[in-house]
Amino acid sequence: MKPDWWKEAVVYQVYPQSFCDTNHDGIGDFNGIRSKLDYLKELGVNLIWINPCYQSPMVDNGYDISDYYKVNPIFGTNEDLDALIREAKERGIGVLLDLVINDCSDEHPWFQKAVHDPDSEEADYFIFKTTEDGNPPNNWRSNFGGSAWTQIPDGRWYLHTFDKRQPDFNWESSKLREKLYDMVNWWLDKGIAGFRVDAITFIKKDLTFASVPTPDGSLYQIENYQNYPGIGVFLTELRDRTYEKRNAVTVAEAVGVPMDSFTDYAGKNGYFSMIFDFNWYNMKGEADKSSKEAIYRWRNKMFDSQEQISALGWSGVVLESHDEPRGINKFLEPSDQNRTSAACLGTIYFFLPGTPFIYQGQELGMTNSIWNSIEDFKDVMVQNRYRECVENGGDTEELLQELREYSRDNGRTPIQWDGSKYAGFSDAEPWIPVNPNYLQINAALQKNDPSSVLSYYKKLVALRRDPKWKDVFARGEFIPQREAEDCLIAYRRMLGDKMVGIFCNFTSKEQTVCVSEEVKEILLNNCGGLEHETGRMTMAPYQAVVLSLQG
Ligand code: NOJ
Repeated sequence: MKPDWWKEAVVYQVYPQSFCDTNHDGIGDFNGIRSKLDYLKELGVNLIWINPCYQSPMVDNGYDISDYYKVNPIFGTNEDLDALIREAKERGIGVLLDLVINDCSDEHPWFQKAVHDPDSEEADYFIFKTTEDGNPPNNWRSNFGGSAWTQIPDGRWYLHTFDKRQPDFNWESSKLREKLYDMVNWWLDKGIAGFRVDAITFIKKDLTFASVPTPDGSLYQIENYQNYPGIGVFLTELRDRTYEKRNAVTVAEAVGVPMDSFTDYAGKNGYFSMIFDFNWYNMKGEADKSSKEAIYRWRNKMFDSQEQISALGWSGVVLESHDEPRGINKFLEPSDQNRTSAACLGTIYFFLPGTPFIYQGQELGMTNSIWNSIEDFKDVMVQNRYRECVENGGDTEELLQELREYSRDNGRTPIQWDGSKYAGFSDAEPWIPVNPNYLQINAALQKNDPSSVLSYYKKLVALRRDPKWKDVFARGEFIPQREAEDCLIAYRRMLGDKMVGIFCNFTSKEQTVCVSEEVKEILLNNCGGLEHETGRMTMAPYQAVVLSLQG
């Protein structure tokens, strides 16, 4: 295996709660994932990333871990997971687990010990402070709303970057770090392919814990403390003591890493194999996503980011995840949302230099769901924001409107497998309601339909992994076409004597565009045909083509 084998991979993200339920409790499970391994093999992916599946009170859907060594019984047993890892491997699919080591659950025995015995070793695993005046130690605001500090009965306060039931670890404790490395190695010994590493840029704290004045006296966003100086010492040690020795792949959720630190994170000898490129992850703030100005801005952000990153290191490229609404809703106006535009969107990002990730259901063109009231939402972040809004006398209707569009729950509804009750996800009522459009959008309808989004995604994956072309996509130069026509997103990938051109007409209007090279072969096309002659081609609305231009 090449040391950078993961550059040729295509990853599929499985959100286990919502993937497939086989034990009739309305929650997905390991055996459900096992039952769909052939579906994933047919799709063509060779890595799957499973969101946290460890024991957890599920305050933040598994990102609050109470036992790192045991799986959550709602998903099955450790043996079921072992079988899943084994059976996936038999199909040429590696498994990435989620590594959550910035924080744990307040139900973790370490935290319980720390709370009950301030002199215990475990008390040093977390960040406790006492204050004289009964106020929190500083004005930091948690990412999930409210103060980042919570008081325990003996008067001490503990720090939490996220929900108060997710206490942050104190990475300054070498004993804690040893425990974490042991755990990471224990999972690697099971033969997993690697990890997606959660919220890792938060592990290093500003040890002065000083308040930061804000203009209006409000709390100071703790998210500004990402990548705090000194973090590299911890990340180097983590890498060297664990995955470095195994050729495992690591994909870090490392938000806000500036380009001048990118190489440290995901360069050749970086802390991780890759970090997600979130620089063009949505079009938030654009009043009209279909305007040429909005598309131009989006295109530039994507090109700037991928051009810089490809010179510095490696990224995971994504349109969707469990932390975002659906891509179709993020990048397309309602009147433009259809299977052709969904396929166009897929083509835009699939041949960029980074490793492409497909979020479950994206390959079916799943969309945001319908949310009637605040009670429909399950996400702790939504609940916290709503509570804060009520407490501060804010406009809850306005917030609800925003949540309908942007809530993470939009990406967390069950996979729409078929047209039966609960979309074939389960035979019991799912933990989160199925999107009502499952009768029109589901895998069974799309499986044998050559014009479906699913069939197109299979072609995307096959081309990205095609022995003839995969090197071009994984290691070739990235040449963005910045002077392209309005709404055309085009770039070339070039390696040796091979050149591939990706052309996506990201608009509902037909458009004639220039192609300076001779078209040797149409490798992929999301529409019936393609009118082309030397120097130009006419592209249908949302048509996307991948062309061999050389080689
Ligand atoms: C990042 C995860 O992707 C997100 O889902 C979670 O809420 C936060 N970490 C906090 O645990």
